[in-house]
Amino acid sequence: MKNYAFPQTRMRRMRKDDFSRRMMREHVLTVNDLIYPVFVLDGEARTESVASMPGVTRVSLDNLMPIAAQCVALGIPALAIFPVIDAGQKSLDAAEAYNPNGLVPRVVRALKQAFPQLGIVTDIALDPYTSHGQDGLIDGCGYVMNDETVAVLVRQAQVHAAAGVDIVAPSDMMDGRVAAIRQGLDEQGFIHTRILAYSAKYASSFYGPFRDAVGSAGNLGVSSKETYQMDPPNSDEALREVAMDLQEGADMVMIKPGMPYLDIVRRVKDSFGVPTFVYQVSGEYAMLKAAAQNGWLDEKKCVLESLVAFKRAGADGILTYFALDVAVWLQS
Ligand code: PBG
Repeated sequence: MKNYAFPQTRMRRMRKDDFSRRMMREHVLTVNDLIYPVFVLDGEARTESVASMPGVTRVSLDNLMPIAAQCVALGIPALAIFPVIDAGQKSLDAAEAYNPNGLVPRVVRALKQAFPQLGIVTDIALDPYTSHGQDGLIDGCGYVMNDETVAVLVRQAQVHAAAGVDIVAPSDMMDGRVAAIRQGLDEQGFIHTRILAYSAKYASSFYGPFRDAVGSAGNLGVSSKETYQMDPPNSDEALREVAMDLQEGADMVMIKPGMPYLDIVRRVKDSFGVPTFVYQVSGEYAMLKAAAQNGWLDEKKCVLESLVAFKRAGADGILTYFALDVAVWLQS
């Protein structure tokens, strides 16, 4: 059968040289696409490594400062803070989550004072603070109660906003939390505090290393989060979640995890055309890192390829533990 396009059309012509490959390149990754997640601890002069995330550390505030300075110098727009809370401060009511002098508010105040131009994102969820490691308050059967949890999340968001955070990122997947947080912020005059909603957050096993990093894995035990996080086989449901969060006042939406959910990123971007973020989660980091450390993958090339794939899928920004490395690579 005759192929009419060929030989007039040869797709390889444009691929032949670097200049023409660059001319037709559709997507570019820049430092502006990066958000750097960091784990913070109480105390001083502490830096701990995370076994399941080689190269990632938990640091005390004094050791976080030079990292933040590096982000500013490299032009990374924002840091996302994840606290490691001492076991003694975890409880059933998660009261430490809204302590105005808790670890997160202290870190936010210090960072905003030293680096006012650096965007700071905080996670709104109770898992670092509950003795059972769930993202919310539980009833007698262990079920995570929605509305009771939302009330605590609002207090947590207000405390973070009062400390000066730029963006709150509810990652808990309770229903109605975005509207409640928006109202709670507005009532206290925090009209500029942005909401980055983890709208399509799946009940993923790729979060394993993160739970090691923040020390919630032991608390959670064999329990799972599938009564509130989304079921991995679903896709239409993600669009409903995003639609609701936008109606409730989300400024940005997020899909999580990243690489196994590129189809969701594309559908969300096409359906809503709103600022769409994606989280290359701890398990994705661990996979790439492990293969690279074994010499099985070229780390730099594979990481950059994984990140430009998010851009191609429609993401406006990426949370990635590789952000610092990538920012350096992009400079050279
Ligand atoms: C907690 C939270 C999680 C992550 C971000 N915020 C873990 C979870 O839901 O269990 C995962 C991030 C990662 O795996 O890198 N609400």
